[in-house]
Amino acid sequence: MTEDTVGTKPLLRVLEGRREEIPPIWMMRQAGRYLPEYRQVREKAGGFLDLCFNPELAAEVTLQPVRRFGFDAAILFSDILVMPLALGRKVEFLTGEGPKLEPMSDAAALSGMRDRIDPDVLAPVYETVRRVKAQLDGKTTLIGFCGAPWTVATYMVAGEGTSDQAPARLFAYRDPENFKRLIDRLVLGSIEYLVGQLKAGADCVQIFDTWAGILPPEQFDRWCMEPTERIVSGVRAQVPGAKIIGFPRGAGAMALPYVEITGVDAIGLDWSFPRSLAHDILQPRVPVQGNVDPLALLAGGDALDREVDDLLTLADRPLIFNLGHGILPATPIAHVEQMLKRVRG
Ligand code: CP3
Repeated sequence: MTEDTVGTKPLLRVLEGRREEIPPIWMMRQAGRYLPEYRQVREKAGGFLDLCFNPELAAEVTLQPVRRFGFDAAILFSDILVMPLALGRKVEFLTGEGPKLEPMSDAAALSGMRDRIDPDVLAPVYETVRRVKAQLDGKTTLIGFCGAPWTVATYMVAGEGTSDQAPARLFAYRDPENFKRLIDRLVLGSIEYLVGQLKAGADCVQIFDTWAGILPPEQFDRWCMEPTERIVSGVRAQVPGAKIIGFPRGAGAMALPYVEITGVDAIGLDWSFPRSLAHDILQPRVPVQGNVDPLALLAGGDALDREVDDLLTLADRPLIFNLGHGILPATPIAHVEQMLKRVRG
């Protein structure tokens, strides 16, 4: 990354610790079902994974929200669950049901898994990154991503999404040694995957730990912070100065230790995180990203205006304006426009 690139991309400037007069803005899950142009491409692609592995179409849907709204960042269109696929596990997305994987109920399942990711599986994702990069202007940041090992493991162990991640938590209590073997493989795979995205042209990467907040503190140390730290240092060993955003959803009181221990360049906050604490305790150390409640965006009106204004009180320090989690499919496009207008004036 040259000084020059850092200079022209507002989001990268914030990741360098600078403050922008108007905070850069993007939305988690900004490419998705709330956009008619996405639904159209999605239909053409066939299955959801077919879309993820089709560089032409994946690049197209990555760019759609940037074209429509002029966001400051494009986020690579893919999914965190391409990682288990690359490790040789079966992964399917059933319409209306979400992801389905072969569950891993015990250590025996580990032997049926590859040690290293299969580079052929992820090659189309890097191609998507190259295509998007070639089409972006000099101001828009391209964000790559992976799931954090803990969150990916919750889906691998349960075989599907659950509300409390009991299957993975139980596995980790009952057989921590083998659970660590699973986490270790995800750490190595994630380093390789993120380095591949950065080398293909991603300007920075985000590590999504959607289920971090379900862990008690000691387990949070072991399964969220420690593996994330290894990814951060492993990526930077190969790509010096790589910029990394961590999103430990629900981390609450663990947010500050997360920043200090993992070494991320910025922390993504979910909507439950108190903004006064973000301002006084986190922002003096790292830029924060977040955290409009996706339901306030869905509701629109005064509720949305109030939420936007409240978040803008953090804009006197380094801030990336975002949602506290992904945009909901039922969100009206007009509400996204309302939010953008309020942020940018
Ligand atoms: O943000 C973006 O626009 C980039 C693309 C992206 C997707 N998933 C596309 C997607 C990203 C960054 C993700 C991350 C992801 N995937 C996470 C972490 C962030 C989060 O939202 O918590 C998780 C936990 C997953 C796993 C996953 N993928 C689930 C549980 C589901 C089903 C629920 C749902 O929203 O449908 C998916 C499917 C998925 N991933 C869709 C999209 C656009 C919807 C699939 C469709 O179009 O039919």
